[in-house]
This record gives sequence, structure tokens and C-alpha cells, in this order.
Amino acid sequence: MIRLKGIKKAFSIGERDIEVLKGIDLHIEKGEFVAIMGVSGSGKSTLLNIIGLMDRPTSGEYWLRGDRVAHLDDDRLSQLRNAYIGFVFQQFYLIEYLNALENVLLPLLYTSKNIPNPQRKALALLEKMGLKGRSKSRPSQLSGGEQQRVAIARALINDPEVILADEPTGQLDSKTASEIMSIFAQLNKEGKTIIMVTHDPDMAAKAKRIIKIKDGLIVG
Ligand SMILES: Nc1ncnc2c1ncn2[C@@H]1O[C@H](COP(=O)(O)OP(=O)(O)OP(=O)(O)O)[C@@H](O)[C@H]1O
Ligand SMILES: [Mg+2]
Repeated sequence: MIRLKGIKKAFSIGERDIEVLKGIDLHIEKGEFVAIMGVSGSGKSTLLNIIGLMDRPTSGEYWLRGDRVAHLDDDRLSQLRNAYIGFVFQQFYLIEYLNALENVLLPLLYTSKNIPNPQRKALALLEKMGLKGRSKSRPSQLSGGEQQRVAIARALINDPEVILADEPTGQLDSKTASEIMSIFAQLNKEGKTIIMVTHDPDMAAKAKRIIKIKDGLIVG
């Protein structure tokens, strides 16, 4: 479902171009659970952002569900992103002045998908994440692990086929991190394709495949 061929990404800093991804070839099938590992600065987030259609490669080809997507315009990229991809980040990125339920509903402002009874669906997702009764809580009233559960519910509201997670347990203690990993494992069991960046070998071990990236190339 995801195919990358010869993906390169350079950033210009002043007069200089720095090549961060140097030719990534990668196939990820529907239903996989993949961990991407590598040292800081190796290009993991850059790769995840390209896979998630948040950024475009400088060169190379990307097929998502059989469609070439590397050169689509911004509108089309955001349509595809909203239709197929859910994001989870290390910093949660919840909106502080919205409660948990409102945060989960937020992506529906940007989608053309018709979700009948979104409120009920959002409450069901919060309940599934173990947050029954917390729908009115603001992010500041929730623990880090609880905030990440809200963020996962938000990522699921559009029924994405793919969940992309960039260091989703980076801010959490090891017990809470394991709980979040169990949620990902369960979602994967239910058929979601999950691609997760992590530094932590214990978290990566929960994935079914580990991809290592070094200096902008996949090394194993
Ligand atoms: N928008 C940008 N402009 C310029 N340079 C960038 C940009 N985004 C990333 N870089 C550079 O690209 C390199 C790879 O960054 P990236 O965020 O992909 O690394 P990472 O593997 O995710 O690291 P970390 O583990 O610290 O999150 C870094 O040297 C970074 O400074
Ligand atoms: Mg990163």
C-alpha cells in the first residue's frame, strides 16, 4: 500500500543544500506494524512526514494505494492525508482550550468524509482508549498517557487505514509507554497499518518489522 522508490529529500539552509534522505526504497503492506529506528538526525521524522504527505520528496517516487503521490498539489495531498492517514506525535499536540471530546472531533472540520453521528463515535473512541468519563476534561487535567490516548482517538476519528506515530512514547514513563504500545498492537490486530518512529528498542520490539535508518539510507 506504501511504496517508496529512490526517495531523496534535501533542505536548503542559506546557500547550502543538505541531503537528509539519500535514496529510500521501502514497501509497506496493508496491515503491517513497522518501527523505524535510527539515531537523532538520521532522517526518521523527515521520512515519516513524506509518508504522511506532510512534505514532498525532492526526488523519487511514492505510490500510496497504487497512486503516484509525490508530485500532487497541496489540496490533493491534504485530501489524501485526511482520508487515509492518522497522526500521533510525541508532544500530543492537543488544543488546550478544547476538552477531550472536542479534540477528538477536530479533524472532522477538515474532512469530506461523511461520518454519521460523530459525537457518538468520538465518545466510543475515548471509551475504547480507556477514557470513559473523561470526555469533558481539558488536556491540562489529564496525565501524559491520557493525553496520548486522546490523541490516538483523534487520529482514529476519520477511520484512517494508516497510523503514523513519531516517538509516541517519547514523553512517557515505561509503564505508560507499554500501555500505549498495547493500544497500537490492538489497533494493528484490527487491521490498521502502523508505522512508528522510536528510539526505544523495547517499543520497537512490539512492532512486527524494524527498519533502521542511518545517514538518510535504510540499512536493515
Ligand atoms: N525543515 C527543515 N529545514 C532544514 N533542515 C531540516 C528540516 N527538517 C529537518 N532538517 C534536518 O534534517 C535532519 C534530519 O532531521 P529529522 O527530524 O528527520 O531527524 P530524526 O531522525 O527525526 O531525529 P530525532 O530522532 O532527533 O527526532 C536534521 O539534520 C535536521 O536538522
Ligand atoms: Mg524526529
